[in-house]
Amino acid sequence: MSTDGPPIIDLSNFEERKEEIKDELMKAATTIGFFYITNHGIPQELIDRAFAINDRYFNQPAEVKAKYPSTDWAAVKLLGYEVNSMSEGGLVRESCIQKFPVHKEMEKVWPREEDCPNFKDTTIEFMEALPPVVDRLMSLFALGIGFREDYFKDITDVNNVENNTFLQYHKYPSWEGVDPSTWEQGVNRITAHTDESLMTLLFTSPGSVGLELAAGKDGQAVGSENGHYTVDKWTDCPPKPGCITVNVGDPLQFWSDGLLKSNYHRVRMPKPGESLAARYSMGWFVWPKDNVLIQGPQKKYPPTTMTEFMKVKGALYGASFNPDPEVYKANQHIAFGLPQVAATAIPAAS
Ligand SMILES: [Fe+2]
Repeated sequence: MSTDGPPIIDLSNFEERKEEIKDELMKAATTIGFFYITNHGIPQELIDRAFAINDRYFNQPAEVKAKYPSTDWAAVKLLGYEVNSMSEGGLVRESCIQKFPVHKEMEKVWPREEDCPNFKDTTIEFMEALPPVVDRLMSLFALGIGFREDYFKDITDVNNVENNTFLQYHKYPSWEGVDPSTWEQGVNRITAHTDESLMTLLFTSPGSVGLELAAGKDGQAVGSENGHYTVDKWTDCPPKPGCITVNVGDPLQFWSDGLLKSNYHRVRMPKPGESLAARYSMGWFVWPKDNVLIQGPQKKYPPTTMTEFMKVKGALYGASFNPDPEVYKANQHIAFGLPQVAATAIPAAS
């Protein structure tokens, strides 16, 4: 198993370098399932403004955020503010989920200007910058898998109301003033999981380390200790200047006949000497249209749809929806054995 971190893949001169970029993408996606992209075309100034809005949003009073609550995760009505407990040891993170304005229900969860100035405009501007990057990556993955180049174009069209691609702002609480040597063993900022998206683009606040991936395990947990996933080795995936972190999700593993790997990842607690400040991240979770048949060109696995997929994935509580029957069965066993983690109060913002 490789212990190297994810490669940095340069997207510059994309049209002329397509073949070379495709080879690099496929090499990363078929092994560790994670990679960084640079020269992606999204202005740093826009990313910085989105982070500023992210910070402004989460630092509003709790009663203001509570005006725009999230809806049902299992029903895939992912919108608005939520405090979620997909962390071990009762830690929580706050999230805010947005979709393209074609989803009329967004109107209920955009914060009013007086509550969070420029939130809506900046968030939409940021979201609009993302699909061109996704299109380029998905076109090369389509070729690498064995489909025609534009196979995913309509399937991932964010202006289609049947498409549930979303942007999620996250804030993990600050631990300033707390001694990192007192962390309980096995407690993480977010527990090990695989993504339910086709692909995820992740932006992380500078200096905020902690993302780790389990390379080479095909999304399979190798054991369970006290109800937590364990894998034999975690590989650091720190933020890199000018780069976006990208990973393959479960449906793309499925859609590629198991060729592309949706691997476990987590955000661990800071180690002594690392920043204890709040961690901010922004994830663009690329989903296919709800009822498109998901099946690889080799038809290795039976066809499914995103709707059917989420029924299983929701029950699996973060575990891999690995289409290989043996892995799927093992993960199901582990997932259902997990204790429910109670949300506790979020530490006061520093
Ligand atoms: Fe994830």
